[in-house]
This record gives sequence, C-alpha cells and structure tokens, in this order.
Amino acid sequence: MTFTIFLINRYILTCISAFILLSAVCAMGAQTPGGEAVVSLDASPPAETAAQKPPTSPPEPDSFVILFSGNWEGHLEPCGCTEKQLGGIDRRTEEIKKIAPDPQARLMLDAGPLIKDTERQSQLKFETFLYAFKKLNYDTINITGEELILLYEKLALDPAGYSTVICSNMPEEKRRKYYTQPYFQKTLRYQNHQLDCLVLSLFDPKEISDKTLAEKLQLQEPVSALQQNLDALKIKPDRNNPKQLIIVMLTVPTEDPLTRKLAAIAAIDIIVTKGSSDEPELCSPAGPLILTTGRLGKYISQVDVPFPDSDDQTFKFKMIEIHSEFPQDAEIVRLIDDYQELIRMENLIEDEIAIPRLPLDDGIPFAGNSTCQECHTEDGVWKKWSPLKHAHAMESLEKVKRDYNPECVVCHTVGMLYETGYRSRERTPDLANVGCEMCHGPGAYHNEAPEEEYRIIFTPCESCHDHENSPRFEAERDQYFENIKHWDEPREYWD
Ligand code: HEC
Ligand code: HEC
Ligand code: HEC
Ligand code: HEC
Repeated sequence: MTFTIFLINRYILTCISAFILLSAVCAMGAQTPGGEAVVSLDASPPAETAAQKPPTSPPEPDSFVILFSGNWEGHLEPCGCTEKQLGGIDRRTEEIKKIAPDPQARLMLDAGPLIKDTERQSQLKFETFLYAFKKLNYDTINITGEELILLYEKLALDPAGYSTVICSNMPEEKRRKYYTQPYFQKTLRYQNHQLDCLVLSLFDPKEISDKTLAEKLQLQEPVSALQQNLDALKIKPDRNNPKQLIIVMLTVPTEDPLTRKLAAIAAIDIIVTKGSSDEPELCSPAGPLILTTGRLGKYISQVDVPFPDSDDQTFKFKMIEIHSEFPQDAEIVRLIDDYQELIRMENLIEDEIAIPRLPLDDGIPFAGNSTCQECHTEDGVWKKWSPLKHAHAMESLEKVKRDYNPECVVCHTVGMLYETGYRSRERTPDLANVGCEMCHGPGAYHNEAPEEEYRIIFTPCESCHDHENSPRFEAERDQYFENIKHWDEPREYWD
C-alpha cells in the first residue's frame, strides 16, 4: 500500500476560538468499496452566526464527539515568557463544556506521553496531570511503559484518583499488578442514538531500552496482542460498521512501522500517534484515520463521529487552540499551585542529587555581578546593563511565584546547572538575573588578570531565546542585540 497524503490548511476565524481545520485528501483509488473512514472539512458556521441564534435553540447535535490530547512534554501550563502562548491544562474546562457538554455523548482520551524524563520534577508534574485528567473527566488514558513504572514504584497513587490507564499488550498478571486495563469500552448515547466505542492502547517494547524495565512489564508483541483482544471481544474486521468505533492509542510517531502495521487491521477506525509538530495533524490514508494530538497541550484534537443512522458517515476533524484568554479552572489551578508548592518545599533547586551540576572548564568559578561592577562602572558598561530586563529577570519570576522552579530559574539566572552557579537569592544573591557571566562565562580568572583575553560565548542567546520562549528573536536578532548594547566597537566575536 502506498499512502499519498495531501494536507490542506484552512484557517477560519471565529470570535471564540480559531478552529484550524485540516483536510486530508486521499489521492489514490485504493479505497475499499463502501468507503473507508472519510474525513471532511468542517462545515460548521463561524461562531458569529452561531451566536446570533436565540440561545433557546442550540443546534441539534448530529454526531458524537471524541476529544484527544497527548504529547505534553511536561507542559502543565505555558511558561509566560512571551504573550499569548497557547496551552495549559487549566484553561480547557469551559471549552470542553462548550464543544461536548454531555459526558454521555463524548469520549475524552489522552494518548500520552505526559513527561520528558522521570526526574523528581517530572514525577510531580506527572501526578498533577493525572489528577487534572480525573478532574476533567477523561474517560481513559495511555501512558508509556516508563511512566507506568514510575506511577507504580515512585508515586504509588491510589488508582481511584486517576483515570483508567489502558495497556492492551501486557500479560494479565502484570496488568493486575500495575492497575491497567486491556481496553476501555463505552457506549456513547444521545437520545435514541448510540455508538459502541472500544479504546485500546499499545506500549511499544522498542521504546523501553532498559532491560530491567522491559522485564518488569513483559510487553507482548503489539500487533498480535491487539488482534487477540479484538478476537476475544468478537469484533468483526469491519471498519464501515457505523455502530462501532475502535480507537488505538500509541506513543510512537506516525511514521513508525507499528503504525503502518496497525493501519492494515480492518477493524480499527482511528489510530492516534505521537506527532512532532505543535499542531495536531491528520494523515488519512485509505484506511483508518491516523491523527496526532499536537505537542505541549496547545490544542485539543476533535473528531466528530456521525450518529450511526445518519446518511452521511463523514468524520470531521478539528483542532482547537487553547488560548491564554480562556478562563482558568480554579480546581486545576489549585493542583498546579500544589505542584509548585512541592517544588518549593522540596527545595529542588538546591538539591544536588535531583539536579546534578556540571563542572566548569578549567575549574574557574563564577565570581558574581558585583565584582564586574567594580571595574566596569567607569567604562559605562554597568550603567547600560542594569536597566535591562536581563538585570531584572528574577523579579519576573518572583512576580509569578516561579522563582524556586528550576525549569524557569535556569534561564533567568547565572549558571544554575553548574557548580558555583545560582542556587538561591540567599546563598547566591550575586548570581540572580541574567548577569554578566551567563553570557561572558565564569569571571574569577578575568578578575585576577583582566589584561588577558576573555572572549568566550558561555551561553549563546538562542539557548535562552528559543522558539518557545522568545518567538521573535530569530527574525529580530539584530534589534535584540541593539537593545542590550553595552559595547562601543561593532560586535566582533559574538555571532
Ligand atoms: C579588576 C578589574 C576588572 C574586573 C573585576 C572585571 N573586569 Fe572585565 N575587564 C577589565 C579590563 C581592564 C578589561 C580590558 C578593557 C578593555 O580592553 O577595554 C576588561 C575587559 C572585559 C571584557 C572584554 C574582554 C575582551 O577580551 O575584549 C569583558 C567581556 C569583561 N571585561 C567582562 C567582565 C566581567 C563579566 C566581569 C565580572 C565577572 C569583569 N569583566 C570583571 C577589568 C576588570
Ligand atoms: C541565560 C538566558 C539568556 C541568554 C543567554 C540571553 N538572554 Fe536575553 N533575556 C533572557 C530573559 C530571561 C529575558 C527576560 C527577562 C525578563 O523580562 O524577566 C531576556 C530579555 C532580553 C531582551 C529584552 C531586554 C529589554 O530590556 O527589553 C533582549 C533585547 C535580549 N534578552 C537580548 C539578548 C541577546 C542579544 C542575547 C545574546 C547576546 C541574550 N539576550 C542572551 C534570557 C537570556
Ligand atoms: C529557555 C529559557 C527560558 C526558560 C526555561 C524560561 N524562560 Fe522566561 N524568558 C526567557 C526569555 C528569553 C524571555 C524574554 C523573551 C523575549 O522578550 O523575547 C523570558 C521572559 C519571561 C518573562 C517576562 C515576560 C514579559 O512580559 O516581560 C516571564 C514572566 C517569564 N519569562 C517567566 C518564566 C517562567 C514562569 C518560566 C518557567 C515556567 C520561564 N520563564 C522559563 C527565557 C526562558
Ligand atoms: C546577554 C548577554 C550579555 C550579558 C548579560 C552581558 N554581556 Fe557583555 N557583551 C555581550 C555581547 C554580545 C558583547 C559584544 C561582544 C562582541 O564584540 O562580539 C558584549 C561586550 C562586552 C564588553 C566589551 C567587549 C568588547 O569586546 O567590546 C564588555 C566589557 C562587557 N560586555 C562586559 C559586560 C559586563 C560587565 C556585564 C554585566 C554587567 C555584561 N557584559 C553583560 C553580551 C552580554
């Protein structure tokens, strides 16, 4: 089978949220008679028109709604380094209510993964995600094998406190041990319409490089395990049965051979994979709908599945932006606050085991801003640096109560990841903010021997001014340099 996929982007502005619609067109005649899952452009009117209708007659639904999230990389909320960032687990409650108010008529799934690593800070985030999903009434979630072991061994949460975790390719005794289910079934109902949904998830044994972890889970070969589950449930290989919907969630990329093998299984309607772009993507070959959830929680992927007795069985795919203006859910904000409070109480930032510190080249330590001030006041450098935002970067964190969060502090101070670098305002007051040495490098030797060359780029601008935190930097690089200029000659070595 060859898949030729065209993606057409259309942007339709609505006043509440911009639905960005993707349509996938299959440019090949390999569709089986009767048609495979068809995807269409969304035909719903812009929100202005919807808003003009009298509130007493909301449009009658004609489909069930499936909502997907996943691939969070630990982003419980956007960092706030720049305006209008999308995302936040706390900003979607009202939107979900608007799109799919009736829990009986919707399915909410997270395809994982939730975190980037299994270090302490990620563990705390993981817990927060699980509680937030529960609060949002997610039906079921998929995580990775490593996350499952973390959940069981390090966090030991009460399974009643989080949504059902499914893993369809684990032996039963392991499933009992790790509190996972082989699949999740739910019949969606609206008036006399109903749709039987079956959700499965496969852990990829390839993803677990650590042998001991692999042994703990004893993962089975995914495709045959999936088939066994379908056989046990007597599911007919019929993708065109409008009364049933079968979804498989994976944490492997769309291009992974596993995705392709699953696409050939005729019972599956929707496969959710891990994409690489921030936006959800839809790739629909002649087979199941293959979609991704997008990264960092910036969007929700939505698939509208027509009621089984409807003549038009076209699935509709939308992506919903999570805007910074969307109202926050007070309960989820509290969960995030609790997580921040734990980071502070555990004092992760000063914990040399939780955050192993790197040694410095030649063992030259950081000396602190005030030592630079002593000699670089006369040449006017200090006076130019001190009013800059770099010199007040820590205050920005203090204002939003993130000044003890290592993930933020790392870019807003000097050398947090290094020996002799920033640890706290109390212990290292002279290394708070983006001080001289974060750019010029540890200065203790220069202070002793200022006549010797001291021209290193310790941290390139782009390591902090990256796409996520400083989206304008790349295009406005020269202007950014101009705005911090504290040198007289044209720039020589910094490019
Ligand atoms: C004891 C005085 C003294 C101290 C302390 C000092 N500097 Fe300097 N620095 C100098 C002198 C003198 C020069 C050479 C000035 C020139 O060539 O214009 C210099 C040059 C520099 C240069 C240019 C290097 C080059 O090779 O062109 C940088 C960058 C610099 N200092 C940064 C710092 C930083 C950062 C600190 C604090 C860690 C610091 N200085 C502390 C005296 C000092
Ligand atoms: C260690 C991380 C880091 C590095 C390296 C860094 N910046 Fe920044 N920069 C920041 C932070 C953090 C802020 C925002 C501070 C705030 O507002 O709290 C910022 C803000 C700025 C601003 C806004 C300043 C203002 O006063 O309006 C400019 C311009 C800028 N940086 C330019 C640069 C350039 C050019 C480089 C490289 C030579 C650079 N930065 C390197 C972290 C960094
Ligand atoms: C990768 C480096 C990096 C990390 C990590 C980072 N910041 Fe920033 N932050 C920046 C840069 C760079 C800017 C300046 C962006 C610009 O003006 O282009 C900034 C600016 C800010 C500002 C000032 C915004 C304004 O309106 O002036 C705040 C507040 C802030 N960051 C908060 C945070 C918080 C909270 C976190 C942790 C969740 C965080 N930052 C993590 C690099 C970082
Ligand atoms: C955000 C990064 C950044 C910070 C923070 C920073 N500098 Fe610089 N500094 C630069 C860049 C970039 C240049 C230009 C280097 C070149 O010529 O390529 C420069 C140039 C200089 C020069 C002149 C060197 C020359 O060759 O012309 C001196 C002296 C200096 N810095 C000292 C300081 C001192 C002292 C501080 C703290 C008060 C400081 N800098 C903070 C990035 C930074």
